[in-house]
Amino acid sequence: MSKIDSRDGFKSSWGTVLALAGSAVGLGNIWRFPYIVGENGGAAFILMYILIILLVGIPAFMAEFSIGRSTQKNVFGAFKQLAPKTQWYQIGTLGIISCFLISGFYCVIGGWTMAFIYKSVGNEFSGMDGMQIMTLFDSFINNPVEPIVWVIAFIFVTTIILISGVGNGIEKFNKILMPMLIVIMIILVINSFTLPNFKEGYAFMFKPDFSKLNSDVFLNALGQAFFSMSLGMGTIITYGSYARKKDSTLKLSLTTAATDLTVAILAGMIIFPAVFSFDIPAEAGSQLAFITFPTIFQSMTGGYFFSILFFLLLFIAALTSMISIFEVIIAYLSEEFKMKRILATVLVSSTAIIVSSICSLSLISDSSLKIGDKSVFDFFDYLSASYMLPISGMLVVIYVGWFWSKKKNRDEISSGGLHKIQYFKVYMFLIKFVVPILILFILLSKLGIF
Ligand code: TRP
Repeated sequence: MSKIDSRDGFKSSWGTVLALAGSAVGLGNIWRFPYIVGENGGAAFILMYILIILLVGIPAFMAEFSIGRSTQKNVFGAFKQLAPKTQWYQIGTLGIISCFLISGFYCVIGGWTMAFIYKSVGNEFSGMDGMQIMTLFDSFINNPVEPIVWVIAFIFVTTIILISGVGNGIEKFNKILMPMLIVIMIILVINSFTLPNFKEGYAFMFKPDFSKLNSDVFLNALGQAFFSMSLGMGTIITYGSYARKKDSTLKLSLTTAATDLTVAILAGMIIFPAVFSFDIPAEAGSQLAFITFPTIFQSMTGGYFFSILFFLLLFIAALTSMISIFEVIIAYLSEEFKMKRILATVLVSSTAIIVSSICSLSLISDSSLKIGDKSVFDFFDYLSASYMLPISGMLVVIYVGWFWSKKKNRDEISSGGLHKIQYFKVYMFLIKFVVPILILFILLSKLGIF
């Protein structure tokens, strides 16, 4: 047991809550959610999304968390311990692949956030309108060198924090930064009320048009839910393994889901009024946040200051999530191969630099780095969020629902009888039937089989 005893972990409940929220709240909420909403028709998508969080996201989160906390191991080690001599540990293999796909585009955007802090400090957007900022952004991503330098800077910062460990690095950081993030978001939402077209923006977000719903929208809502709640990659298994036994699984899951959803909606409430006020196409895609936000700041008193603060916080949101993505592999390498934490971290970071550079170059407008009609960047985002995360999430719930000992499962969820779990039957029903069937149905319909 000495390995478990010497294992680093979270030191307080509050720290655990914030670390989980820090992982969940990230570019997925502020950068990805608004553009996915934009591309999928607005309010009808959001309703779909909330339903999926309740029926799929929360139960899947609880399943992952309980696997991690009961074994206190990394994603491979967890399944090797629970289901020895079976292939279940391949969930870990899927997780590692997804980890690199996600890191690829995530670090690129992380780099952009740093570049935009720099540009805000230098007041580069001064006096520009939406279109001019769009042009500035285009020339930034079309530069082969500049974005990659920022990617490396971003990965460097992530690496430094990860080297300091779980309690002293991950937990400490999240405790300071997450409350700040919420406060700034609220200030920006209040500002969005003052924009000329805020009504159109809110109508787009809150008035559902159900004719827009189709299998693509379902798939995208599912993918977004998995991505945003950090599911299907082993992050929650890994963070669960650092959590303390007495904390309530249900409470941690609900708080994470609620914080995650709130921040996503707030981000939408900031972005869409601006989109409709400044002539920016709502389906502007992955660049939406980087064009829209600087535009808002130009029309805002104190915009110079807010712009720096906003990109700083976006950077921090990205950082706290990126840490949780890398940690999956670091935990795996250091526990399964007894690798020193520092070596594992450097190895993961160096690989991520290569993958991210390819993603970054694929965004140059005449780049041949394409898979099908998508850039490598968009393809990695699409493949991981829409397919890989839901598939491995489905495997985890199938394992927990159908193969894991029900007694151990109950014991884990109730923290050894400490918490009342009247909802256990509902939870089991969801993870045995609802979650896998829904995921399978959505995937098959996407493949044109239904
Ligand atoms: N949830 C984070 C976000 O919304 C990203 C993230 C962190 C993630 N860990 C993950 C996504 C694991 C998928 C799987 O930005």
